[in-house]
Amino acid sequence: MMLSIRNLRVTFGERPALNGIDLSLARGRTLGVVGESGSGKSVMALAVMGLLPRTARATGRIGFDGRDILTMPERDLCALRGNRIGMIFQEPMTALNPAMRIGAQIAEGLILHQGLSRRDARAKVMHLLDMVRIPRAAERIDSFPHELSGGQRQRVGIAIALALTPDLLIADEPTTALDVTVQAQILDILDDLVAELGIALMLISHDLGVIARIADDTLVLYRGTLIEQGPTERVLRRPGHDYTRTLLDALPPRVRATLRDAP
Ligand SMILES: Nc1ncnc2c1ncn2[C@@H]1O[C@H](COP(=O)(O)OP(=O)(O)OP(=O)(O)O)[C@@H](O)[C@H]1O
Ligand SMILES: [Mg+2]
Repeated sequence: MMLSIRNLRVTFGERPALNGIDLSLARGRTLGVVGESGSGKSVMALAVMGLLPRTARATGRIGFDGRDILTMPERDLCALRGNRIGMIFQEPMTALNPAMRIGAQIAEGLILHQGLSRRDARAKVMHLLDMVRIPRAAERIDSFPHELSGGQRQRVGIAIALALTPDLLIADEPTTALDVTVQAQILDILDDLVAELGIALMLISHDLGVIARIADDTLVLYRGTLIEQGPTERVLRRPGHDYTRTLLDALPPRVRATLRDAP
């Protein structure tokens, strides 16, 4: 298992944000994490990245490739974030530097961490832009973030995360700021990347429709507690918990119908 979390508890003062979470995620698989606002989804993402604030107290184990992220020294965590675990954010604009051309931003890590020459980095950037399906990449590579649409900016965000060839990608509400058509395109890109590159993807969303589209397995969080977990199809067809049923009922009828009809 690439990622193996055992009995993870995170508390802020007396308040538990996560209450004994267990999960496993293998290469080439997508795990969907769904739950309402405040259920602990982002706290889980931060814990896996080793980025919990100092005020948080975490116990249990976050096994990544046989090591425990909770006890890893900061130096090793930095290395891990630099080239093993990539993060895709909700609003790519906050992750992008508005004053820097997108090609240069994607190339930065390649030059700094992988020691590529400028020319080699640029060639790799072209390839990455292609992978995230940015049309006319040769023209786009020298654009500034504000010259791109929201969907294209999110593609750049994915390209930056992919540049360092991570083994695990964590996407926290990656499509929430986008309209539904673009949302579907971004999810399809992520789905293809998981299949082509064999990375593991943790896809976080409050929207069960987003999770259902590409997640192999689904984990439902409610107020920091894992209330159900299993193959997505099973969770959708036979939800084992009232809360999951509530999430399903909240989907538009047409979306619900396509989920039920899925093979
Ligand atoms: N730095 C912090 N200090 C204190 N409490 C925090 C901190 N970060 C998160 N929490 C608490 O932990 C709980 C889970 O928050 P989290 O951000 O993980 O929710 P979420 O599921 O990501 O919600 P959303 O869908 O709104 O992003 C909340 O009750 C929140 O108030
Ligand atoms: Mg969140």
